Amino acid sequence: MKVAVLGFGTVGRGVYEMLQNCSTLSCDCVLERPGVFNEPFIVNDINTILEDRSIEAVAECIGGTTIAHDFAVKCLSAGKHFVTSNKALISAYGLELRNLAAKNGVSLLFSAACGGTMPVLHNMALARRSDTLFKSGGILNGTCNFMLTKMQDEGSSFEDALAEARRLGYAEADPSADLSGLDTLRKVILLSAVGFDAFPSGDLLCEGIQNTDAAAISELKARGLVLRLIGSCGRNQDGSLYAFVQPVAFSSSAAEANVKMNTNMAFWEGENCGRVTISGQGAGRYPTAANVLRDLTELPECRKSMLSSKCREEKVNNGGCEFRYIVIENGSVSITEKMPVSAMFAKAEIKRKEGAGFFFAAMEE
Ligand code: HSE
Repeated sequence: MKVAVLGFGTVGRGVYEMLQNCSTLSCDCVLERPGVFNEPFIVNDINTILEDRSIEAVAECIGGTTIAHDFAVKCLSAGKHFVTSNKALISAYGLELRNLAAKNGVSLLFSAACGGTMPVLHNMALARRSDTLFKSGGILNGTCNFMLTKMQDEGSSFEDALAEARRLGYAEADPSADLSGLDTLRKVILLSAVGFDAFPSGDLLCEGIQNTDAAAISELKARGLVLRLIGSCGRNQDGSLYAFVQPVAFSSSAAEANVKMNTNMAFWEGENCGRVTISGQGAGRYPTAANVLRDLTELPECRKSMLSSKCREEKVNNGGCEFRYIVIENGSVSITEKMPVSAMFAKAEIKRKEGAGFFFAAMEE
């Protein structure tokens, strides 16, 4: 099967290189903006790909939601299978693209959009066929986990750790999506969509590591705690959906505390399978490209979408999720009683509006 790659950045270049060594797939066409690359396989016009009937599949590695969305619509409408590593695209337009793929009888796969190399979405899509899944989440951002590890284990500053994550190709082009937790939230949306047939909408609570500094890390360290950024989603007892992202303080013996550097760890829970955990490099050129290749190699065997026909948008209800929190307000440390996650987010917003330095992390249950 002949594949075209959209984008020749960190992931796109990795996908192109891996395709050169693949026995069942070939690629001699990569789309990029004019004037950036001169290689013979670079094309600058999407129509070159759309009009080439020998190209059956497209791997989108551009990122963002403007050009990538336009190209996704065009490629699916032209009857090309569409594989992407773009979590922003699928978390925003997943249902539209699922419908378009179904209408045109082609596949829509996005394993690499969550967790770098981890086949978490792939396996959840299989698991949900025979089991009812009700909970998922984990450490889903390689940049944040790398930075937290560097700060905790090596005493790096926030800025130095971020600069190194960028140099290693872990961070997004705009790293504020990593730091704010938005990148993790997008992955949570995908876990929920694939696992529970529900695209979370409404009051999606999201706190990243942008309010974490070396002083907060060392306060936690002095208490034997290790900070991780955790995405969570699932079904409440009443069947409603929850979805949020927040920093969590784990004891140093917890599994999460020992997931280091750019490694991610995701889990899902189902009525019959219980808890399943999966771990691997969550960011980086070849780990992410490897997950794109996994999707591409599936295409000749079957036509499918990772989003079921039942998948719908669903409002979240985060009111029932409660935690104790460790709080650092203007340098003073306290631990709260159990409180709803929504109440802690509301408190943080008020305190920060008042100008307080306010860090919080849920305590591991
Ligand atoms: N910036 C993302 C991360 C890339 O650090 O996890 C992989 O999704």
